Amino acid sequence: MLREADGYISGQEICEKFNVSRTAVWKVIRRLQEDGYEVEAVRNKGYRMVESPDILTKEEVESCMHTEWAGRNVVCYKVTDSTNLRIKQMGDEGALAGTLAVAEEQTAGRGRRGRSWESPAGAGIFMSVLLRPKITPDKASMLTIVTACSTAKGIKKYFENEGASCPDIQIKWPNDLVVNGKKLAGILTEMSTQIDYINYVTVGIGINANTKKFPEELKDHATSLYLECGHMVKRASVIASIMKCFEEDYRLFLETEDLSGLMETYMSMLVNRDRDVLVLDPSGTYKAKALGIDKNGELIVRREDGTSEHVYAGEVSVRGVYGYV
Ligand code: ATP
Ligand code: BTN
Repeated sequence: MLREADGYISGQEICEKFNVSRTAVWKVIRRLQEDGYEVEAVRNKGYRMVESPDILTKEEVESCMHTEWAGRNVVCYKVTDSTNLRIKQMGDEGALAGTLAVAEEQTAGRGRRGRSWESPAGAGIFMSVLLRPKITPDKASMLTIVTACSTAKGIKKYFENEGASCPDIQIKWPNDLVVNGKKLAGILTEMSTQIDYINYVTVGIGINANTKKFPEELKDHATSLYLECGHMVKRASVIASIMKCFEEDYRLFLETEDLSGLMETYMSMLVNRDRDVLVLDPSGTYKAKALGIDKNGELIVRREDGTSEHVYAGEVSVRGVYGYV
């Protein structure tokens, strides 16, 4: 109520809405203040939220969320091994689609193919969402592309709503968001399947949000929203904005079970488009020009001999000829 109110909201209104006493309301306000919320209390006017802190509690994240199902049930961790692992466990235990795990810190953050994801406390966004799509397992890898699209859009929308200018976010096929050639975010999609049936999919998103400094081995390749725009972001609002875009993009994806509804947006952000790339294929690295993606999310490349290939993300990585992009 405080967040949505335009100005002051009277203690009486809050009491009536929740059917509680004035003392109970005051106690909650005090707790919010202890948690870092700046709430003004003025006699005869009521309460007004002046500022909310950049914290990732269930209350904070859920009260920012404006979705129908994605991210409606949020589980927050101060520390966990990996939010993907937490969602896997919840998936096995029958949790509802849309359940979102968010952590302030991960001790075993994971990237693709067993690589690790640097997840220090307090500054990043580490989250995973549980999906139960009724599609065949071969189509699930497209969810990485869907999520990359929604994550980029969601971050842009966040800055738009704040009236601030957004860093130029691009997508490095298939799963990385980059700004000025450096990695801002990554997506890790995992699933539990039977031969022809998906039990559930875990989509993990890692974003360098308010990170001020990276360890030596990452500092030339990684960047954060803070480093690119010069100010801190409210991580809970960024999460909510991404979930809102995701819900819409996921719906579009399920309508056709391919990326035809999202290709235009994805291509407009694709950093590799029309660039020379190195395709790191397990059977040998080769040089080619990246032309775009097809509706299944495969990267279309033209080899130096003029032949075209559709490259599947599960098998290969792509690098720029002179560096990461
Ligand atoms: P690919 O093209 O195969 O996806 P990649 O190098 O982007 O290759 P990923 O598995 O997608 O690899 O991402 C993990 C890599 O990201 C790690 O090897 C590490 O170099 C880098 N990395 C780890 N933590 C971070 C972080 N917080 N920010 C940016 N980059 C990171
Ligand atoms: C990559 O670029 O390789 C993907 C990185 C994905 C990191 C996120 S952080 C939240 C979720 N939990 C994990 O352990 N990994 C993903």
